[in-house]
Amino acid sequence: MSQNKFPSLREVHMKKILVTGGLGYIGSHTVVALQEAGYEVFIIDNLSNTSIDVLQGITEITNTPPSFVRLDLRIKSDVEKFFQTHKDIDGIIHFAASKAVGESVENPLLYYENNINSLVYLLQECKAHSISNFIFSSSCTVYGEPDVLPINEEAPIKKAISPYGNTKQISEEIINDVCKVSSLNAIALRYFNPIGAHESALIGELPVGVPQNLVPYITQTAAGVRKELSIFGDDYNTPDGSCIRDYIHVVDLAKAHVKAVERLINAENSAKFKVFNVGTGKGNSVLEVVTAFEEISGKKLNYKIVKRRPGDVVAVFADTKKANDELGWKAVHNLKESLASAWKWEKKVRGI
Ligand code: WQD
Repeated sequence: MSQNKFPSLREVHMKKILVTGGLGYIGSHTVVALQEAGYEVFIIDNLSNTSIDVLQGITEITNTPPSFVRLDLRIKSDVEKFFQTHKDIDGIIHFAASKAVGESVENPLLYYENNINSLVYLLQECKAHSISNFIFSSSCTVYGEPDVLPINEEAPIKKAISPYGNTKQISEEIINDVCKVSSLNAIALRYFNPIGAHESALIGELPVGVPQNLVPYITQTAAGVRKELSIFGDDYNTPDGSCIRDYIHVVDLAKAHVKAVERLINAENSAKFKVFNVGTGKGNSVLEVVTAFEEISGKKLNYKIVKRRPGDVVAVFADTKKANDELGWKAVHNLKESLASAWKWEKKVRGI
């Protein structure tokens, strides 16, 4: 509160958003977008898949150091203690989760414990402290292999092909069930393929170990960190034989969260629980991504075609009409802009 007896306009109207996993790739970009939109942000993160340095990156971009507490949401007593000492939270954006498809197949219990228990403990605190605005980080993985493209939110949810995807499906159901019997209002954002980095190159994707995802593997190959990219199959039923995805700039994705927060805080959610696809609405194949990267970087990418990766869907890209119309949100970056921002970040990280 400011010194004089009347709070400043900013203090009166600043809403406080708790961002779990807020030092992660999408989380950190969302924190920047929230601060730029005038929200006060509180981050909790267990630092299992990121670095505390990200806090500095956020602060350099916005000149507003977000509050931060290192906390593991799997420890129920710690979660309870946090909410006992941190009041006046107007909304929660829940990113904190394990998200590697392959790892989830090898270690399902890690995924069910982390992704499900953490969500349940958070929702219990929402109930205990009357926090009624909740945004969940979901994924197009819930759709499995689409029958119709582009895919919309009414498409059938198919049996998950990985424990990771299953945790996203189960989490959506848990949230929906809680909304039905409590004051909770929630939005699940189903991400397609987030890529790229903030234009400042002060924050970006920091894969731990060998990147599982295409674009960081491409930029690390171009930077000489990896010898060559393996393209997992070019014998699919697509125009050039490689898989098709919807690659969305992480800053566009971050801004979708701000729109979702505004919708909940302004009580404009037309139902207790809503889901939105967050993609560009355009599909690009792996080989098209490689070609686009070579064009923006001016570098020839070293790659080889190898056998298919188990669990890959052939093609998936979003019908974004619902998010455009109801959230008033639309992705604005195209593939080359997104790849250029990823390459700028990689060069910054590697000092090249
Ligand atoms: C994209 C395409 C690969 C790496 C996953 C999760 C999803 C979300 C994003 C968390 C596929 C091909 C990849 C490589 C390749 N994660 N590829 N060589 O699998 O579409 O989505 O990450 O929210 O939930 O499922 O992304 O980047 O791994 O793969 O050829 O070294 O690139 O086969 O066709 P994916 P991806």
